[in-house]
Amino acid sequence: MKYAFALGRHPTLSVAELVRAIPNITLESAENGICVGSCSELAPGFINKLGGTIKVIAIDKEIESLGEIDAALMRKLIPPREGRIIFGISIYGQVPGVERRRIYIEGLELKKAIKSEGRRARYVVSQDTQLSSVVIAKNKLIEEGAEFVIIKEKGRILIGHTIAIQEFEAYGERDFDRPGRSARRGMLPPKLAQMMVNIAGGDKSKTLLDPFCGSGTVLGEALLMGYTDVVGADISAEAVSDTKAYLEWIEKAHPEFHGRWRVFVSDARTINKLLPPESVGAIVAEPFLGPPQNGRETPEQLKHIMNDELVPLYRDAIAALSKLLAPRGAAVFSFPVFNRNKGPIFTPVSLVANALIPAPLVPSEYQNFGLPATSSGGALYERPDQFVGREIILLKKV
Ligand SMILES: C[S@@+](CC[C@H](N)C(=O)[O-])C[C@H]1O[C@@H](n2cnc3c(N)ncnc32)[C@H](O)[C@@H]1O
Repeated sequence: MKYAFALGRHPTLSVAELVRAIPNITLESAENGICVGSCSELAPGFINKLGGTIKVIAIDKEIESLGEIDAALMRKLIPPREGRIIFGISIYGQVPGVERRRIYIEGLELKKAIKSEGRRARYVVSQDTQLSSVVIAKNKLIEEGAEFVIIKEKGRILIGHTIAIQEFEAYGERDFDRPGRSARRGMLPPKLAQMMVNIAGGDKSKTLLDPFCGSGTVLGEALLMGYTDVVGADISAEAVSDTKAYLEWIEKAHPEFHGRWRVFVSDARTINKLLPPESVGAIVAEPFLGPPQNGRETPEQLKHIMNDELVPLYRDAIAALSKLLAPRGAAVFSFPVFNRNKGPIFTPVSLVANALIPAPLVPSEYQNFGLPATSSGGALYERPDQFVGREIILLKKV
């Protein structure tokens, strides 16, 4: 089956996640926020396992020219159903305004055609060229009609229909309505935690460890993704208790997941004394990022925090963690990027990685997509309102 994945705001991370979450996928392209690939059939609920994909689109047809898109073609592509039909159209890629206008008018023709069949029809339009997940969900486009998706790439044009959208409300709940929230400590957005867990990949029956677990976001996402044994540790007893409250909340809300979990107080630099060597399949963590910043720190102050506080912590923690990681195991870290708008200060990955080897997030066969990468092969995850950016790094044990 050919699918297109509408990617979130960090396409490198989204693609890095896709190739590992769908092991049999072959990607063809990733441009204009859309990644196209072929794999065996995906259940619509699969999207809940992808933090970096907003829509999954089943590709119906490759067409020669935009002129082929008309009411008759779209009518054929609406999955068979009784009753009223609600539809909308999204366009990805560089499509001239005159063609957009014509496609919009074909939508009006489609509405007329459906009505002429004696059925009710609704055409959902928006100011934007692409309908948002909220619009698609609120108008029940997937259940009661179709969101047609037109994808104009450099070398081809595809048309398909959306089969699943990201459950934005569920992520919002896990981000904001959860126990154990701590803005002061800094928390990973659940979507990012999910992408990191996917990028670490590996066997879900092996132990996944977050040695800087904070409020437990990574561990919660790993349980929801089917990991059967997750372990968290933090130097702070308060964080450990917040994580426990969060994981109990997750367990209660999702009794269908049966993963075991353990959380305890430990300094990541000595955690190898508490767990057996090579007993962990994957490590996913956002380590301590330094004291909270207000944007007025000088580059010298920031370099001091990075080089004298964080680098020794990361280096010693990764030395301990690499002993716990099983051979061919992966560790995914979210490292801080300071001063990101005025000359970024990155974490010196090669100085902290010890025996682990930095690996590119996007596998070599897809490097030609030209997705942005950092010099360590990682990718940035940034929000405009934050002083400290994140660099997501994959390290492997050989
Ligand atoms: C950025 S927070 C992690 C947030 C977490 N990923 C979440 O989403 O809730 C970093 C955590 O590292 C913990 N920490 C700091 N130094 C540590 C150390 N040496 N060993 C273990 N944990 C440490 C802090 O207590 C804090 O909870």
